[in-house]
Amino acid sequence: MANFVNLLLLGIFMSANAASAAAPGCEVGDVDSMRFDCHPEANPNESDCVSRGCCWRAATERNANYTKHSGERLRGIPYCFYPSTFGYKISNVKQDDSGWSADLSLASNGGPYGADVKQLRIVVYFEDEDRLHFKIFDPANSRYEVPIPVPAPPAGKIPQVNYIVKYSEYPFGLQVIRATDHTTIFNSSVGGMIFEDQFLQISSLLPSSNLYGLGEHVAPMLLDLDYQTISLMARDRGTPHSENLNLYGVHPFYLNVEKSGHANGVLFLNSNPMDIALQPTPAITYRSIGGIMDFYVFMGSSPNEVVQQYLEVVGLPYMPPYWSLGFHLCRWGYDNATHTAQVVNDMRKMGIPQDVQWNDIDYMDRHLDFTYDKTRYSSLPDLVDDLHKHGQRYVMITDPGISSTQSAGSYLPFDDGLKMDVFLKNSSNQPIIGRVWPGETAFPDFSHPNAIEYWTKQVKAFHAEVPFDGLWIDMNEVSNFVVGSVQGCPNNSLENPPYKPGLGGDHMSTKTLCMSAKNYNTTQYNMHSLYGYFEAVASMSALKTVLKERSIVISRSTYPNSGAHGGHWLGDNNSNWPDLYLSIPGVLLFNMFGIPLVGADICGFGGSTTPELCTRWMQVGAFYPFSRNHNSIGSPPQEPSHFSPEYADGMRKALLIRYSLLPSLYTLFWQAHAQGATVARPLFFEFPKDPATLSIDKQFLWGAFLLISPVVDADETSVKAYFPADRWYDFYTGAGFDSKGESRTLTAELDAINLHLRGGYVTIKQDAGLTTTASRMNNFSLTVALSATNEAQGVLYLDDGVTLDSYETGQYSYITYQVNNGTLVSANNQHSVYTPTGGKYVQRVLVLGVDSPPKGVMLNKVPLSDSDYHYEASTKVMVVDLSSHNVLINSMYTIAWL
Ligand code: NOJ
Repeated sequence: MANFVNLLLLGIFMSANAASAAAPGCEVGDVDSMRFDCHPEANPNESDCVSRGCCWRAATERNANYTKHSGERLRGIPYCFYPSTFGYKISNVKQDDSGWSADLSLASNGGPYGADVKQLRIVVYFEDEDRLHFKIFDPANSRYEVPIPVPAPPAGKIPQVNYIVKYSEYPFGLQVIRATDHTTIFNSSVGGMIFEDQFLQISSLLPSSNLYGLGEHVAPMLLDLDYQTISLMARDRGTPHSENLNLYGVHPFYLNVEKSGHANGVLFLNSNPMDIALQPTPAITYRSIGGIMDFYVFMGSSPNEVVQQYLEVVGLPYMPPYWSLGFHLCRWGYDNATHTAQVVNDMRKMGIPQDVQWNDIDYMDRHLDFTYDKTRYSSLPDLVDDLHKHGQRYVMITDPGISSTQSAGSYLPFDDGLKMDVFLKNSSNQPIIGRVWPGETAFPDFSHPNAIEYWTKQVKAFHAEVPFDGLWIDMNEVSNFVVGSVQGCPNNSLENPPYKPGLGGDHMSTKTLCMSAKNYNTTQYNMHSLYGYFEAVASMSALKTVLKERSIVISRSTYPNSGAHGGHWLGDNNSNWPDLYLSIPGVLLFNMFGIPLVGADICGFGGSTTPELCTRWMQVGAFYPFSRNHNSIGSPPQEPSHFSPEYADGMRKALLIRYSLLPSLYTLFWQAHAQGATVARPLFFEFPKDPATLSIDKQFLWGAFLLISPVVDADETSVKAYFPADRWYDFYTGAGFDSKGESRTLTAELDAINLHLRGGYVTIKQDAGLTTTASRMNNFSLTVALSATNEAQGVLYLDDGVTLDSYETGQYSYITYQVNNGTLVSANNQHSVYTPTGGKYVQRVLVLGVDSPPKGVMLNKVPLSDSDYHYEASTKVMVVDLSSHNVLINSMYTIAWL
């Protein structure tokens, strides 16, 4: 990167507009796109607007759409907008070693939602070369800040940074400019900045309309900026009939791709319920009802780099166990353990890969956590034992609600919770009681200092009865079947904030607890959306203590840093084609959020699947990083083993491909864990300069090397797939072609999913078994997909798949592959500690894109006999058979061809 600039204050870049006689500052609204909504609630009118210190322009043809409602919010060019004279004034700017700080004083009308904090402080940290961090807060009163671990601001001298920061004096605004290309990445010199106890607002101009992120939501990957408002507040809500409504998790992070193909990102580290308004300017407005303004700006400049920079702040994903990358099978509604066992047996009989069998709440005794039904599920321990004997695993659901109605002494999870004082409390300081599956329940406060000990005790006790391998944590938004609590909620400003984010007409505590319920050191008003996050932290910690090996926690509700403690599934979708499609942007989104272990309920949760839909869904799902078929109670069976061979064959085939690619998939997870990479990624992550890729979300990539082009519509026998300019190879035949950046129509019979390898990459495979345990016993093969310049590269990360911290403690091997000038070099010289049990060999090397028949092939400079290799002229594939040469996968060797 050229020309790092180490500049701090370049002074004033904008001054207040000259006031017009009638309405000072209102001329800003002459440009429609520069109007920032001053009355986002329904029914705006002129007198309300003017009393807010804002400008009013009645309907014109251009803003006629304003009256259209989106949920509770209006859409379109606003009538009521901020004047350019609304906001704070900066003074007292002081530079120090790691940035600068200043005072901000309110110098106009404040906001309409309560008393304004008139004196604010801004602290700007130049944290890293490509990361700026700033906070705006009340210096006189400490306020709630999000308690996830983030890097401490650097002490001492500012590093060389790739950005310039400017500010405007009045109204105050901050501008962050990437130094290398002078793109303005963040620009809050617009709109009305407001800081009140229960309302924080700040807007920023975006460098481009290519915006992604701001989850959790169910929508196409590329966000719609046509006056859309996205609400964020963790919520148990069936998907996806709720495109911008608040959903299970909260991720106030976006990625923005500029015209140049460079990318930037911004995190608003705030966990209070909020609205995020998007408009076509392009611009973004954050409206949160609490906390402070805590922002991170990431300069990129590629999408992959933005995600890496983001994950340096919110935490890298954890390293999952190898078995968790196998196929998982689940449903709500297995009547008993025998029924569950029957499904496992059917899968075995039909030779369909399966690693993990799950149980939903059916296994519990009266839906009580940490119990199992001793009648219907009496043989559950035997089922788990049988799974383990077959190299398979068992995972079951746990809900946060702990039954509060069992007689004292009969149910330890409640008794212990009382003793250890870990339950969330109501205004009388008693455990707040809601209602979930077991009836009335208390809810552990997973942020309580005793919570990990409490939860570990329960996990340990149940594990002694049923030796499960991972935890599925559901209903943790936290979900509650009554509004607030069985006693309702008090009437106070936390329950009825002056500004209510657009929650689809809900109360603040609809389907959850009262906002004024008490956590250990704050309220649900602040911490609500972190419930699932803290439960995942406690659950993963408990599993490490109890199992002493790597495990999985699959959580419904997530927040930044959740990926460091487990994975996520996308919640309650339905068995229909649109939901199959929408699962792809969902999976890609969570990879961006640092939770790569993610997948949707394959074949759909609600409703009835069809054999065709389920086959296509199993084919896509075989490429979800987390691959689980799950079904709702009452829906017809959809286990792969349930279908006739016409369909089951296509499902098996897709899963066997997944299993054959596990070494490469596991390596991708390691790259995510060690380097902040994504596992499943959109095409624009690899080809950001190709505008055609920016909206593609029906195809996706594994890492950089595998393009997946599924069928997501009914009755199709072909699929239109886009190939960015590069060399691509058909996964099945190895035949290649050079694309100039073009769409192709591919045949897509029901039994196969279209897959293409990208030139320039080496893919490592292992012969597929029916479990990951069996697969790990098999030998390896390499597929070298040559680039147009006859080069390729790859890496392989190997460890035992279960030991805690294998990477951190050096118990792994790392193999690199370099191909050029007709020579493949496999090198283990960077780190080579782990050897697969029994030693595993490279059986075959396929080289794709070899232009002419080889005259000879050499292994470690020794010629191989003619029978050890052959060349397929029609596809230009060279196959080298190494089966008689004992080439260990984790050894140094060369293969050269002439
Ligand atoms: C809601 C979850 O989203 C779903 O996956 C589960 O089957 C039901 N709860 C029952 O536990």
